Amino acid sequence: MLYLLDTANIEEIRKCSEVFPLAGVTTNPSIISKEKKDFFSIIKDIKSIIGDKMLHAQVIGETESEIIKDAETLREKIDGNLYVKFPVTLEGYKAMKALKLRGFKITATAIYTPQQALLAANCGADYTAPYVNRIDNISGMGVHVVSMITELFKHHNLETKVLAASFKNVQQVHEVAVAGCQSVTIAPDIMWKLAEHPLTDMSVAQFTKDWENIYGKDKKIYNL
Ligand code: E4P
Repeated sequence: MLYLLDTANIEEIRKCSEVFPLAGVTTNPSIISKEKKDFFSIIKDIKSIIGDKMLHAQVIGETESEIIKDAETLREKIDGNLYVKFPVTLEGYKAMKALKLRGFKITATAIYTPQQALLAANCGADYTAPYVNRIDNISGMGVHVVSMITELFKHHNLETKVLAASFKNVQQVHEVAVAGCQSVTIAPDIMWKLAEHPLTDMSVAQFTKDWENIYGKDKKIYNL
């Protein structure tokens, strides 16, 4: 399963990139707005850290023609491994169909139901992003929705992948991984929580103590 980072905060991207095997970064208009900076300079800074890993950036336009103009501008100004994110509105489906024919890499986003994902896949989406926690907040069983989408794509031999999004805890991430989802995008606070455990730290502290009792403090294997 691929891990992407769901933020536009440059410091967080830098810190997480040092530790985690990230496949890329996802943004949306709310995430971008939090940074209160020029849009293209944020994108440039993100690219300077992630290089040619995937960058998923979202259109703002609401009509098909506005969406297409946004997507064209993103592709013109952002080099490399760009996925343009289209909300699955009626205008969004139209734009996805049109831009797939022109070779755009497409992420369908703001997905709440399996049929929205299946339609988006048929419109040419490479990735579909169901919003797990937002679905949980309407008692819609986010993990189950992700699981159904994953199964539907397999069942219908579609190459479209699931990029599960909107997580508020580690358990949601774990459950979509068990469901066979191909990729997740996670905010930095959840990413750190996935990796850490106090019992791991306690185990390492005990290893160090036992070792130092015999070999001495500050002695490592390289300086015995
Ligand atoms: C990602 O692409 C989504 O826009 C994002 O994960 C939504 O997350 P939120 O529900 O935490 O805002």
